[in-house]
Amino acid sequence: QIPLIRLNSEWEPWEVTLEDAISRKLQLGDRVDLEESEKLKSETWRERVRALPILSIDNLKNRETDLRRAHQVLGWIMHFYVHSLPPAEPIRIPPPITLPLLQISAQLQLPPVLTYSDDVLYNWNLDNPSNEELPTESTIRCQTTFTSTNDEAEFYLVSGRMELAGVDALELMRSTMDEAFVGDDIAIRRITDYLRQLGEIIHRLRTMLLEVKNGCNPDVFYHDVRPWFRGEDSQSGRKWVFEGIEQDPTLALPTELSGPSAGQSSLIHALDIFLGVDRYSHGKEITGHYPTASDEESRARASAFLKRMQLYMPRHHRAFLNHLANNPRPLRDFVFRSAAADPPTPEGNAILEAYNAAVMALKEFRDAHMIIVALYIIIPARNPRKQRTVDTGSQVESDYVAPTTETVQQKPLLKGTGGTDLVRFLKSVRDQTKSAFMTL
Ligand code: HEM
Ligand code: ALA
Repeated sequence: QIPLIRLNSEWEPWEVTLEDAISRKLQLGDRVDLEESEKLKSETWRERVRALPILSIDNLKNRETDLRRAHQVLGWIMHFYVHSLPPAEPIRIPPPITLPLLQISAQLQLPPVLTYSDDVLYNWNLDNPSNEELPTESTIRCQTTFTSTNDEAEFYLVSGRMELAGVDALELMRSTMDEAFVGDDIAIRRITDYLRQLGEIIHRLRTMLLEVKNGCNPDVFYHDVRPWFRGEDSQSGRKWVFEGIEQDPTLALPTELSGPSAGQSSLIHALDIFLGVDRYSHGKEITGHYPTASDEESRARASAFLKRMQLYMPRHHRAFLNHLANNPRPLRDFVFRSAAADPPTPEGNAILEAYNAAVMALKEFRDAHMIIVALYIIIPARNPRKQRTVDTGSQVESDYVAPTTETVQQKPLLKGTGGTDLVRFLKSVRDQTKSAFMTL
């Protein structure tokens, strides 16, 4: 289903406001090289946002694609608003944004903030939307960006293409679950084949992820694009105030305001749950050491983060993940039972091998992701582009958090847009994947 690209005329003021932000090329408010004219331009835009009418969402209710578009438009406007503010100004989001956004978010059961759905899942279009072709990796185009750069569009499209490639993976999971239900020898052979195919798809996802390097420049990403994604928890200490909420007694203050992150993609969560990576571990033989208390603690924190990210997914994705998690015949048990048959069978060995190959492919995907994170966050954070971000003294880094005793060797603690202590988090998830490798 092609995402809606425009709400109808009743909500035209929102669409126009977003277009206006893009065509004015609003700049990040905390850039030190901002000219007075830029500051004025962005203040004029924000004034218009404050003067918008408070539009009713009554006619959007029960229209899923319209609600999605409305969440998307208001989410983008809100991020433009918050991040174009000068750093000294408090973040007070005005009622024409907060009220409808909170109402729509309640309908969609989503937090009132830009999510992965808003910048990836619903942020594409086709060259020729009328000829009813299914979207493919080469025909999708990006709808909306903060910076009007190709780098930003490519950043979203890489994820979008991976989601398309992931459709086959979901199909294989479904077929595997059906076969495991039957559970005979033919089922073992079929599942083995599905797992091999799944491993190949994950391998492809890894290649596609690395291809982000072809179209998205790390410095542009880090300095120009990424700061727009920041949520409340990746922006040191600045509270986001939602004004006007008292005007609607059904509304509550938001509790979740992390920025968008591919950690909100249900595809990777589905792979984890399906392969049992989220629940099992074999400890010593693969990771080289038994998990220590601190490993356990970072694992618990990482899995709590991933669970929290499910709140940012469309609710039907969340429901699918719950369905997978409650599968009465988990794949891992099935593989283990088939492989542990006494006497051992060639089918049993083959299914174990195929399962482990899929787990290893996922671990290699995460290794590649860590390389990308080094290239797109860790390295550019060390080489601040002079004059483009706030100079906070010795460090010039937009999401720099003062080192604490925890930060080793005086390295700044880098946070992901989802709010994680990213290096430790990503290592922990990668190691957990590795330890799902099964030995008899
Ligand atoms: C998580 C960075 C592209 C999948 C994260 C996190 C960071 C990050 C910092 C930690 C969570 C947070 O606080 O946000 C990046 C960068 C990318 C990139 C810099 C490209 C320039 C992608 C793509 C995907 C992806 C294209 C694929 C859909 C994930 C997943 C997680 C994650 C699944 C959750 C952790 C896990 O399950 O391993 N990413 N990411 N990332 N990212 Fe990316
Ligand atoms: N989650 C990604 C980051 O932290 C986008 O940069």
